[in-house]
Amino acid sequence: MDHFIHRDGELWAEDVPLAEIAAAVGTPVYVYSSATLLRHLKLFDDALAGMPHLVCFAVKALSNVAVLRLLGEEGAGMDVVSEGEYRRAKAAGVPGERIVFSGVGKTRGEMRVALLGGIRQFNLESEPEMRALSEVAVSLGVVAPVAIRVNPDVDARTHAKIATGKSENKFGIPIAKAREAYAEAASLPGLRVVGIDVHIGSQLTDLAPFEDAYRKVAELTVALRADGHAIERLDLGGGLGIPYTRSNEVPPLPVDYGAMIRRTVGHLGCEIEIEPGRLIAGNAGVLLSRVVYVKEGEGRDFLILDAAMNDLVRPAMYDAHHDIVPVREPEPGLEARAFDVVGPVCETGDTFARGRGLPELREGDLVAFRSAGAYGAVMASEYNSRPLVPEVLVRNDQFAVIRPRPSYEDMIGRDSIPAWL
Ligand code: LLP
Repeated sequence: MDHFIHRDGELWAEDVPLAEIAAAVGTPVYVYSSATLLRHLKLFDDALAGMPHLVCFAVKALSNVAVLRLLGEEGAGMDVVSEGEYRRAKAAGVPGERIVFSGVGKTRGEMRVALLGGIRQFNLESEPEMRALSEVAVSLGVVAPVAIRVNPDVDARTHAKIATGKSENKFGIPIAKAREAYAEAASLPGLRVVGIDVHIGSQLTDLAPFEDAYRKVAELTVALRADGHAIERLDLGGGLGIPYTRSNEVPPLPVDYGAMIRRTVGHLGCEIEIEPGRLIAGNAGVLLSRVVYVKEGEGRDFLILDAAMNDLVRPAMYDAHHDIVPVREPEPGLEARAFDVVGPVCETGDTFARGRGLPELREGDLVAFRSAGAYGAVMASEYNSRPLVPEVLVRNDQFAVIRPRPSYEDMIGRDSIPAWL
C-alpha cells in the first residue's frame, strides 16, 4: 500500500495533487511520500518485534538527506557503501552507532573517516580488506567492530545484474572458508568480531533463497561460537522484492520475512540487522513527467516524454517494468491504445515501455512512473546535458523541494576551460 491515490479524477501524493507539484517545480521530478516511507519502515520494525533488531535503510536506494532524516528520526539505522553515503547519513543526523558500512572496495581513506566519525560495524568482504582496516584502526588507536560478509552460494533467482549470493559473484567470502577468515580477523589487532553479514541479491520475490542462506548463517554462527568468536549480531542484508505491477503476483510481505527470520536464526539470541532499500523507498516514490509529443509512427505510436533514461535508467539497464499512469484519470470506458513510451535521449535504449496500453494522451498531459522511489533519482545522470532531475518530499498537505533542479548555469559552470586553451 502506498499514498499515491487517484482522488477527484487525479493522482495525489498524500494530500497534494501531483499536478500542483508539476506546476510549481516543473517536470520531470521525483516525488516521495513521507507516509509511505515511514509505513514501510514500520512494517520491518513490526516484523522483527520481540527480537533485538535494527533496520538499516540501504542508502543507495534513495540517498536524499531529507529522506534519511525522516527515516533516521524514526530510529532507522543506515547501510552505507561509500564515504559519500556515510557523510549523507551523518548530515541527516544519524549517529555513527546506527551506521553499518558495506561494500567490496572500501578504501583506507573511507575507513578512516568512518572510524573517526563513529561506526556501528564494517561488513568486510575479503582478507586484504580485513588487513587494511586493522592497519587503519591501529594507526588511529581504535578497534573496528566487524562482521564478515559470507557468500552462501545460493541462487537468489532474480535479475543476474542484481544477484550477489552465488560463488561466482564478487561479493563476500565463500562460506566454506569463513572459519579461516574469522580466525584471521580475530588475530588482527585492529579488529573486533561482532557478527556475520550476508546479502544475496535484490528484488527477491520468493523467501526460499533467503531461508537457505539464513540457515547456513545459523549453522555458521554455531561453528564460529565453538571456535571462540563472539557472534552477537547477524546482518541479514536487504533484497526483499516489491510489486512493480498491480497485476503481478505479490512478493512475500515483511511480516512473512520476519517470521522466517525468527524461524531460521531467532533461537541464536543475536541482534538482527537488516538492510532493506527497495521495499522502503520503491513504492514511496513516483517520477512525474509530461508528454512532449505524441508521434504516430509506422505501425506504432510513440509517447515522447520529458523524462528520459538519464532520469530513470532501470528500464534501459535491467529491462525493468514500471507502471505508467496518467495523472488525470481517464474517462471510464475510454479505450486503451498501445504506445511505445520513450524519452528524448538520442539512443533507442531510451525506451521505458513498448506497446504499453494507455488511455488517449495528449501533449502536455502528465504521467507518473510508479515504484520509482528506489534506484531512481540515485541512478540519474546528466547524459545528453540534461540537468539532474529534482526531488520533492510530501508530508500530508505540504511539499518541499529537497533537491532543486540545477540551472543550466550550475551545470555548465562546473566545467572549466584551462588557461592554455
Ligand atoms: N545491502 C547490500 C549489501 C546491498 O548490496 C543492497 C543492494 C541492499 C542491502 C539493498 O537491497 P534492496 O533491499 O534494495 O533490494 N540498481 C538495482 C538494484 C541494486 C541493488 C544493489 N544492492 C535496481 O535498480 O534494481
